[in-house]
Amino acid sequence: MAVDLSKLYGRDFELSSGVELNFLQSETGDVGCVVWDAALVLCAYLDHCQRKGLLNLGHQTVLELGAGTGAVGLVAATLGADSFVSDLPELVPLMQQNIDKNKEKLSGSCQAAPLEWGDVVQMNHLKETAFNNGLDYIMLADCVYYDESVKHLVDTIVCLSSSKTTVLCSYEERELGNKEALQSQFFKLISEHFSASEIPMSEHHPELSSPDIHIFKFTSLS
Ligand SMILES: C[S@@+](CC[C@H](N)C(=O)[O-])C[C@H]1O[C@@H](n2cnc3c(N)ncnc32)[C@H](O)[C@@H]1O
Repeated sequence: MAVDLSKLYGRDFELSSGVELNFLQSETGDVGCVVWDAALVLCAYLDHCQRKGLLNLGHQTVLELGAGTGAVGLVAATLGADSFVSDLPELVPLMQQNIDKNKEKLSGSCQAAPLEWGDVVQMNHLKETAFNNGLDYIMLADCVYYDESVKHLVDTIVCLSSSKTTVLCSYEERELGNKEALQSQFFKLISEHFSASEIPMSEHHPELSSPDIHIFKFTSLS
């Protein structure tokens, strides 16, 4: 569904440095048109870790998958990363609006790109043109959501990562429908390629965190 860019409203996100980002969301469109809580928790985790010296995103190449508004990639770029925010082609204009709106605040860079999980042509194009030196981070928030795409999502992470890539994945626990089963399937598939560890709550942002929102780190087994 196309995103209606004439009906946008903002959501502020303040980093510990005092820099304030504004994420534009659309009143109409699919699930990617708004910032989800799991994205805000991952944004806050990045900011918190960088402030404490546990992370340095400066000059790191970051790809956000299923980025929606692009919030996570934009926070990474504010912290110095060179980010690519990706989603289905219909979300690219919204991500681009968010990049344009916040570009003065970025100490790194941010670019929007279409990437449908499992699309080998798009993945190879990005690998050859955008991040030909490899990715330091792949980040995703609340993307383990769709029956038909869990395997494509894992294939995409595997295809775009290398031994130097760290994957940060946040999600909100949901008992609705088959969401628990999808999460189990995702972890089973990803564990064939990555070692998974959950970031303890004590390392999340002290205020912008929630017991039902988890952050996992995946590192390559090879
Ligand atoms: C629940 S939303 C989360 C959006 C954003 N990560 C956040 O947390 O604010 C899931 C996102 O995955 C994207 N998505 C779903 N299926 C996809 C696919 N096959 N390829 C790429 N992106 C997809 C949707 O367009 C949407 O932006």
